[in-house]
Amino acid sequence: MKQQILFVCLGNICRSPAAEAMMQTLVDREGLSDRVYLDSAGTYGGHAGERADARMRRAAAARGIDITHRSRQVREEDFERFDMVIAMDDNNYEALFRLAPNREAQFKIYRFREFLRRHTDWSYIPDPYYEGHEGFELVLDLLEDGCATLVEELKSRG
Ligand code: 4NP
Repeated sequence: MKQQILFVCLGNICRSPAAEAMMQTLVDREGLSDRVYLDSAGTYGGHAGERADARMRRAAAARGIDITHRSRQVREEDFERFDMVIAMDDNNYEALFRLAPNREAQFKIYRFREFLRRHTDWSYIPDPYYEGHEGFELVLDLLEDGCATLVEELKSRG
């Protein structure tokens, strides 16, 4: 059985598709592709069907990460399929907590900040949508930190 991980933000066009693509890059590099399934979704469905924000795609591409995901809204059934549902900020966490159908589902919800090792002064992944280029670079720095931790955890599970 593959470990199934869902990254969740608000619009699913900036932070969570970048997290998914970055994690996929690390998973592929570590030869774990047959053990891990990754996806991303948004608590808000207004961008459903859209590709990721061009600013985020450009910033990620500069780090060798290709974001191909199309936005979709998170749904209650996601708690059946996924083992870990990882929220980018506290608003996402609370929306997921309300959506979760039972306590078992609630236990699957994590905050991305739990995986930060170098950027411990950050308690959430800040929404870059209304920010300049630096906002997107900061998000990618934070995602690199947390995804590295997550991939190490997956490796240590064997
Ligand atoms: P994301 O960024 O949650 O990282 O995908 C946002 C994208 C769109 C909106 C907000 C945040 N929006 O309000 O449309």
